[in-house]
Amino acid sequence: METSYRVSDHSGKNGTRKGVFLKYKIVAVIAIVVLVALVLLAAFLGPGRKRSSSESCDNNSGQQSSIAEQTTQLSCDVAIVGGGISGLYVAETLLRLQKETNVCLFERDDRYGGRIHDHSFQRAPDIPVSLGAWRVDESHSTVWEIFKRFNISVSYAAKNNQDRLEARGFFATDILTLKQKAFPALSHARFQNATYQQMLAYLASHLKDGANFTSLSDFEAEYLTPEGFQLFSHMNAFNPNNDCQPNPQSLTDSSHKGTTFTHNYSRPVNGLSAITRALKTSAVKLGAKLYKDENVRVIQENQENQFKLITTRYTVTAKKLVLAVPVNPMKQIKGSVAERVQNDSIFDSIGFMEAFKGFAVFEEAWWQSNTAGSRYLADEQELLSSSDCLGFTVPYK
Ligand SMILES: *[C@@H]1O[C@H](CO)[C@@H](O)[C@H](O)[C@H]1NC(C)=O
Ligand SMILES: *[C@@H]1O[C@H](CO)[C@@H](O)[C@H](O)[C@H]1NC(C)=O
Ligand SMILES: *[C@@H]1O[C@H](CO)[C@@H](O)[C@H](O)[C@H]1NC(C)=O
Ligand SMILES: *[C@@H]1O[C@H](CO)[C@@H](O)[C@H](O)[C@H]1NC(C)=O
Ligand SMILES: *[C@@H]1O[C@H](CO)[C@@H](O)[C@H](O)[C@H]1NC(C)=O
Ligand SMILES: *[C@@H]1O[C@H](CO)[C@@H](O)[C@H](O)[C@H]1NC(C)=O
Repeated sequence: METSYRVSDHSGKNGTRKGVFLKYKIVAVIAIVVLVALVLLAAFLGPGRKRSSSESCDNNSGQQSSIAEQTTQLSCDVAIVGGGISGLYVAETLLRLQKETNVCLFERDDRYGGRIHDHSFQRAPDIPVSLGAWRVDESHSTVWEIFKRFNISVSYAAKNNQDRLEARGFFATDILTLKQKAFPALSHARFQNATYQQMLAYLASHLKDGANFTSLSDFEAEYLTPEGFQLFSHMNAFNPNNDCQPNPQSLTDSSHKGTTFTHNYSRPVNGLSAITRALKTSAVKLGAKLYKDENVRVIQENQENQFKLITTRYTVTAKKLVLAVPVNPMKQIKGSVAERVQNDSIFDSIGFMEAFKGFAVFEEAWWQSNTAGSRYLADEQELLSSSDCLGFTVPYK
């Protein structure tokens, strides 16, 4: 949903390296800090809610809508904006638990699933490559419940033991060594022996002062020192020079995540799309009305104090509203209700960045026998760096 994929499938005959039979690239916009999707329930948007405004990175918020209403009317009890995992899960759950009966969901793209999007190369049709989300942490209990409920078979993907880290051109196998090599100033201060988790916990313990700072970078620089902020930016694959930093509130989620993640990853054997496919099928069976290719352009209130949405083809009225879209698509929605969300400081706490992800599938897992030196590749290797680059190598079998 938020993701724009640029796909080039070079699966032609002229592989440049021996053993390579296809190469593949995408450009994806991924939300890094917290949630992929923003889910705000209608209660949150109730009339009379005070707006806590703050500067937005966006430059077209506040524009008045001049979008013509559609003549085809649609009436829903609940309108869900966004057909990624969040929107589908909410639709399916409301109906399954019999909380609602008339649930509509609107998806801008021509497919459901949002950031969950698998692709198979022509020459390796049995290998689902997950372009966006690709793994499920052991701590993701809600998703594990979904696996169980829909009998989705999963396989162990990797234990990310962070054995190959990079920052400022230095490589290390653990964060303390990386700190010493790439951030020597931190070795002479309070954080000399601190792990990333300990630094994060320290930062989180000062969250109450976060409100004094307009951006996460200022807050981090204050408590972790400027070098500590640089280290964190590298660890989180944030560009430290990016002006569009989330506010410190985003730490509430990321510090929670930092302490509960086990980094023990699994994935459905048929790719991550198995999750959204199962949710969609179940939601439809339960009576959800799903609309794809249906861009929600305006969200406002009508005179009866209901939500009014103008989409590509419909004018929709709804008693309740669920926003299950990431930051960028949310910014493009006009209307008074959308603006109220965009103006809220919680909205500013959601970080996002552009990232590049590249895939290559090989005929043989050559790296498993290439153990020379300390830079061999294990089962799965992940390289995070502030060069906006995420790299993965996944075994063929
Ligand atoms: C503002 O909008 C213009 C036109 O849509 C765009 O080219 C520019 O990059 C935007 N600037 C920011 C800071 O988002
Ligand atoms: C990883 O998580 C799975 C699923 O919870 C569990 O069965 C497995 O034992 C864990 N493996 C490791 C190495 O922690
Ligand atoms: C999952 O499997 C169990 C038994 O193995 C079965 O009772 C259940 O109906 C299955 N559920 C689905 C959604 O296929
Ligand atoms: C870090 O560990 C060393 C060696 O154990 C110790 O001498 C030093 O005081 C510790 N630094 C801090 C800031 O705790
Ligand atoms: C943040 O503001 C509170 C009161 O508004 C103050 O007590 C606290 O010292 C401030 N923290 C920082 C780091 O400026
Ligand atoms: C949102 O903020 C913009 C810019 O500060 C302001 O013009 C607009 O009235 C606000 N909208 C709402 C609904 O609060």
